[in-house]
Amino acid sequence: KVPYTKLDLDWMNKKSRSSVEMSDKKYRPAIMKKEMDMSSYDEILLGFPIWWYVAPTIINTFLEAYDFSGKKIVLFATSGGSGFGNTVKELQSSAPDAVITEGRLLNCGTKQEISEWVNSL
Ligand SMILES: Cc1cc2nc3c(=O)[nH]c(=O)nc-3n(C[C@H](O)[C@H](O)[C@H](O)COP(=O)(O)O)c2cc1C
Repeated sequence: KVPYTKLDLDWMNKKSRSSVEMSDKKYRPAIMKKEMDMSSYDEILLGFPIWWYVAPTIINTFLEAYDFSGKKIVLFATSGGSGFGNTVKELQSSAPDAVITEGRLLNCGTKQEISEWVNSL
C-alpha cells in the first residue's frame, strides 16, 4: 500500500523502514488488497528480493490475505548473494495448507534461463 523509497531500503540504517519492519517478524506491512480469485490458480510463482536472509514480511501479508490451501507455491528471488535460508519455513506458517517449494534464485538470470526454468516446473 505504501511504496518503499530508497531511504526505506537502507539496510545500514537501523531506523529505516525496512530495518524496523524486519526486526519484528510479526509485523505485516499493508498490501493493496486486490480482489484476486485464487480459486482459478493451482500453481503460483511468487517472487521477491531476499531481505535479511528471508522474504520481506510483506510477502507474509500477501499469503495471509488469500486462501492458498492445496495450492503449489514455487518461490523465486533475487539477492545480493545469499540463498533462500529459512525463507520457506518463515512463509509456510502464513499459508499452512499450501505446498511451498524453494524454486530458484534468479540473480542475473537471462530471459531464456527464466523461461526454461518456468517451463520445467
Ligand atoms: C532491507 C534489505 C535487506 C537485504 N538483505 C539481504 C540479504 O540478507 N542477503 C542478500 O543477499 N541480499 C540482501 N539484500 C539485497 C537485495 O536482496 C537485493 O538488493 C535485491 O534482491 C536486488 O533487487 P533489485 O535489483 O530489484 O534491487 C537486502 C536488501 C534490502 C533492501
